[in-house]
Amino acid sequence: MSFRALYVEQQVEKGAVVRHEAQLRTLDDRVLEEAPGDVAHHEGAGDSGAVTIDVDYSALNYKDGLALAGRPGVLRRSPLIPGIDAVGRVEASADPRFSPGESVVLNGDGLGESRNGGLAEKVVVRGEALVRIPDAFSPLHAAAIGTAGFTAMLAVLALERGGVSPDSGDVLVTGAAGGVGSVAVAVLARLGYRVTASTGRAESEGDYLRELGATALLNRADFADAGRPLQKGRWAGAIDVVGGATLANVIAQASYGATVAACGLAGGADLPTTVLPFILRGVTLAGINSVEAPRTLRVEAWSRLASDLDVHLLDTMTTTIGLEDALSAADRILAGEIRGRTVVDVRR
Ligand SMILES: NC(=O)c1ccc[n+]([C@@H]2O[C@H](COP(=O)([O-])OP(=O)(O)OC[C@H]3O[C@@H](n4cnc5c(N)ncnc54)[C@H](OP(=O)(O)O)[C@@H]3O)[C@@H](O)[C@H]2O)c1
Repeated sequence: MSFRALYVEQQVEKGAVVRHEAQLRTLDDRVLEEAPGDVAHHEGAGDSGAVTIDVDYSALNYKDGLALAGRPGVLRRSPLIPGIDAVGRVEASADPRFSPGESVVLNGDGLGESRNGGLAEKVVVRGEALVRIPDAFSPLHAAAIGTAGFTAMLAVLALERGGVSPDSGDVLVTGAAGGVGSVAVAVLARLGYRVTASTGRAESEGDYLRELGATALLNRADFADAGRPLQKGRWAGAIDVVGGATLANVIAQASYGATVAACGLAGGADLPTTVLPFILRGVTLAGINSVEAPRTLRVEAWSRLASDLDVHLLDTMTTTIGLEDALSAADRILAGEIRGRTVVDVRR
């Protein structure tokens, strides 16, 4: 049997990509069994139970953009099918928790990085990381949420665990018009928080962000230059996807006892800060890792998304493209030009 997939071949030397090719291919099913690192190939794969999924949708995340555009740091082997998200129906399962025909979603767990991923009509995954799609969502909704929305909810859970509540004060979301940011704004607003959205696109996306629930907008340029390590405390909590000087400024503006969830590096991987906000204001910096999230956290986050994310707002932040279109959309997500979430209909 054969299936369609995006396929990336790349050669990396001393951390630099010296050869890169990404294209739509028709592959034999055996590709999923033969590749080292893949679930079906793993000795002891039965421990976690390999599950074969007929994929309907994947998504375009920032990381998928990096992999498709030939940037280093995502692909851990080559060749590889990219795609860190997969949504579809169980075809066969060695994991007793899943039965053929069930609608399921998988985010991360090495898909599209060290294992063949979801930008394909078929994928084999670990049952341990697989989640049944909550009744509140269609398969398209689950893909629209994808890793970005799942990560946004992990960040919201981190704020809650840090003791942040709607009564604590204002919260900030950076990179607000992107995937993680859009879902974070919508969920926080629905939970009753007063949400300030930081964006570089206030002019074009201001109405969109207000519709998602942002009560105030800030220009991301205000956070771009390294400022003093302690500034006026403004935020009871924050969700940051930008990193670099932006995250340092967010931490510097965190109020006493605030929690800041660090999710991303769209603006840089460095963090030019000092210990002062931590030892003088008791600020907590919570790291978010969606890829390796344990099963209990995955199930909790998806269950909270079902209760705390308005599907009508999710629809307003979603664009759907075909499998081959993902190749050209990769550069646009890296340039920060894509609004909200992009679903990839792998059968289109
Ligand atoms: N930790 C995890 O498990 C995890 C999971 C998912 C994603 N991430 C990371 O989170 C980040 C966002 O992912 P995403 O899927 O939401 O990507 P995305 O849709 O491209 O959103 C990123 C947003 O960041 C802003 N931005 C982009 N470049 C910037 C720059 N140079 N300086 C300041 N702001 C910039 C833009 O927002 P505005 O236009 O509104 O300014 C952009 O829309 C990425 O770094 C991704 O790798 C991490």
